[in-house]
Amino acid sequence: MVCRIVVLISGSGSNLQALIDKLDRQHGEIVAVLSNRPEAFGLERARRAGIETLVLNHRDYPDRESFDRAMISTLDALQPDLLILAGFMRILTPEFVSHYHGRLLNIHPSLLPKYKGLHTHKRALEAGDSEHGATVHFVTEELDGGPLVVQARVPVIAGDTPESLAERVQYQEHVLYPLTMNLFASGRLRLIDSRACLDNEPLGARGIEPEQID
Ligand code: GAR
Repeated sequence: MVCRIVVLISGSGSNLQALIDKLDRQHGEIVAVLSNRPEAFGLERARRAGIETLVLNHRDYPDRESFDRAMISTLDALQPDLLILAGFMRILTPEFVSHYHGRLLNIHPSLLPKYKGLHTHKRALEAGDSEHGATVHFVTEELDGGPLVVQARVPVIAGDTPESLAERVQYQEHVLYPLTMNLFASGRLRLIDSRACLDNEPLGARGIEPEQID
């Protein structure tokens, strides 16, 4: 059975592009891309790849709950096995998160649990950190707090700006996220009893280690 994947975006969609380019088509299909912003460049990337695009503008809804309910009915019609948040810049309601329990992945530009929320690169620089990175995790009700799947570390270099650091982190994101998507699509990665598991074994505190994958 091919895993039906929907990617949710709000912006440029460079991660979406990496997901499209590196999808293991034997196991997965990106059936649609949904954006909450009509002008998101990621929609153009999806169209170029022949993927259905959907726009649900959060400004058209009176509150977060009604927006998320509209998303649930739109997404459920697509019968997704996996939802991938790829720069989707909306906080999700507990109702949405629990509806897609075990089927919802996010990428965050920091070494979680450090720097949840916004402006992660600037905060890492201001703290004088020697390393920074990105994290893929299953989404739970705690913002940027769900079970960790995999992390990539990058060194902070003298003279780094938030932009130069973001560029180095994004390069790693484009490796991590397709890898995670393909592990889920092939059935190797699962959320079991609220723990991220690879081949039915719970992952450690640092997530997938390089030697666990080919
Ligand atoms: C990515 O760097 C992702 O880590 C970040 O948004 C960027 C989207 O870039 N996500 C978050 O900050 C979520 N809290 P993209 O649109 O080019 O993929």
